[in-house]
Amino acid sequence: MAQNSEALMGVLSAQPVMPVVAVDSAAEAVLLARALAKGGLKAIEITLRTPSALDAIKAVAEEVPETVCGAGTVLNPKQFEQALAAGAKFVVSPGATVELLDAAKGAPAPLLPGAATPSELMAMLEEGYRVLKFFPAEQLGGIAYLKALAPVFQAVTFCPTGGVSMANVRDYLALPNIVCVGGSWVAPKAAIAAGNYDEITRLAAEAAALRPAA
Ligand code: 3PG
Repeated sequence: MAQNSEALMGVLSAQPVMPVVAVDSAAEAVLLARALAKGGLKAIEITLRTPSALDAIKAVAEEVPETVCGAGTVLNPKQFEQALAAGAKFVVSPGATVELLDAAKGAPAPLLPGAATPSELMAMLEEGYRVLKFFPAEQLGGIAYLKALAPVFQAVTFCPTGGVSMANVRDYLALPNIVCVGGSWVAPKAAIAAGNYDEITRLAAEAAALRPAA
């Protein structure tokens, strides 16, 4: 099987919510990772959407041993290799290309690729992937869409992200084909800007308590 789904499920099933963060500096990422881990969210996805993302992954990997740090928004093989070199323990993409899947084959860190339509899901299953990101979840049809996929794609498990919040997360987690959700609400920009990491720990604890760790 192309995807190391056992390793990926180990990370994703350990907490109901994967924080998806975009950071402005490595130092900020370290503080954020510590605050989230203190609240019980020990795996985080740092997205490659800011210039400091790779430095941030490296810093968290080196300085926050309690955190399992992954890279997100990985769109191509170059970014995949950069993420691994920075020390990412898992890699997340909003979609999948032949080139990205090739880069992930035999790589030391597992890939969580994105897929949404039935044909995309069938293609991913043929490639040996059965744990998939579903992005942007709310805009694609959210809970009703995932519910409709479940009986047809029984082998597929999703991590939906995009528009998930405390207002709808329980409904997502109640679906049979969900391992966890991803979201940025546990690390609000305003709290980071204010240095209010206690608030982030509080939000993380609230999210971590949504479901007991598997
Ligand atoms: C992602 O990349 O998974 C999303 O941008 C997270 O979406 P959110 O900000 O709506 O939680």
